[in-house]
Amino acid sequence: MKVADRPGAIPASGIRAVAAAAWARPGTLHLELGEPSYDTPAHIVAAADAAARSGRTHYGPTAGLPEFRDAVAAKLVRDNGWPDADPATVVATAGGVGALFAAYSALLDPGDEVLVPDPGWPNFTGLARAVGAVPVGYPLDPATGAPPAAGILDALTTARTRAIVVNSPANPTGAVWTVEQQAAVGEWARQRGVWVVSDECYDRLGFDGPVRGMAVVAPDVPTVSVFSLSKSYAMTGWRVGYAVAPPNVAAAMTRVQEATASCVSTVGQLAGVAALTGPQDFADRMRATYAATRDCATAVCDELGLRYLRPGGAFYLWLALPASVDSERFAFDLVERAGVALAPGTAFGPAGRGHVRVSLAARSDDVIAGLSAVADEVAGRR
Ligand SMILES: Cc1ncc(COP(=O)(O)O)c(C=O)c1O
Repeated sequence: MKVADRPGAIPASGIRAVAAAAWARPGTLHLELGEPSYDTPAHIVAAADAAARSGRTHYGPTAGLPEFRDAVAAKLVRDNGWPDADPATVVATAGGVGALFAAYSALLDPGDEVLVPDPGWPNFTGLARAVGAVPVGYPLDPATGAPPAAGILDALTTARTRAIVVNSPANPTGAVWTVEQQAAVGEWARQRGVWVVSDECYDRLGFDGPVRGMAVVAPDVPTVSVFSLSKSYAMTGWRVGYAVAPPNVAAAMTRVQEATASCVSTVGQLAGVAALTGPQDFADRMRATYAATRDCATAVCDELGLRYLRPGGAFYLWLALPASVDSERFAFDLVERAGVALAPGTAFGPAGRGHVRVSLAARSDDVIAGLSAVADEVAGRR
């Protein structure tokens, strides 16, 4: 019996392919996945435990528990520089990816086009395919990860272009767009009648000061802001995130969620409330550790003569390999020969050719060992 064509159009993850090779080789150093190296803080786990034991084990409202949406609104003002936030515009989702799926479903009809960063997180493309939309890559500045000029975006825009995804701090480059860069893209989108989907899943992981998202720097731009607790609070496995959107979009996203999930895990959301309202020192310490690893890793790259984009946030280092190197082959060879797994640049789009992504969410000794292995492998190919 035939299955539908749409799943076949979702590209397989080039990161998972390397991870599978690495898992098959015990002892491999895993620097390929985007996963905090920390476990969830104890007070968050305790809150989930208490919630489950006290009977908070039932379905909740589709858009999220009132206490979760209130906690999100307060956090946006406290941490993200929002002048105010209305809990009614918050939709709790199954991680950032759940928010993106609901946003794409709410904004894109089959055949519509969505502009996605290249290089960019692979799911921006895969999700478009999943909803029958067409992803169109837009180039980032290879040296800085900055967005392109309006003319380049115009050249990629058609009558079917409905949305542009922006992602700062970015995966895989770690680039943090300046206020001016974000505002320019926002203004471009507003003038062209294109929605902005602003992925701010690394919002708490700006290394050089607080980061500000599209809704703050360009409040007049029609934007769906997407956030996650996965990275900021080491909660990847809990699947808790949220989106903030204009009321008509929030309502459409809630409809989508009603059909696909009913609601986000009640226990997970209550863990999320503890994360958002409880002590923030753990999140601050994680960020400081990643920033220190960034400083150490970039110094090591300088010593080893490896070219990289200096990340301003998230927890990735985007390395440029010599022009002749096939990044996928390189990543598999590195697993086999050196026992080091990195994400091949091609997993993030055509502009990722000749690059690899190194996770900085690891012990700095391991990151240094990984970078030394890259330098040796590059030297061995000369
Ligand atoms: C840019 C970006 N957005 C969203 C996500 C989704 O994470 P989650 O669904 O765990 O919140 C990730 C995960 O790697 C990511 O890198």
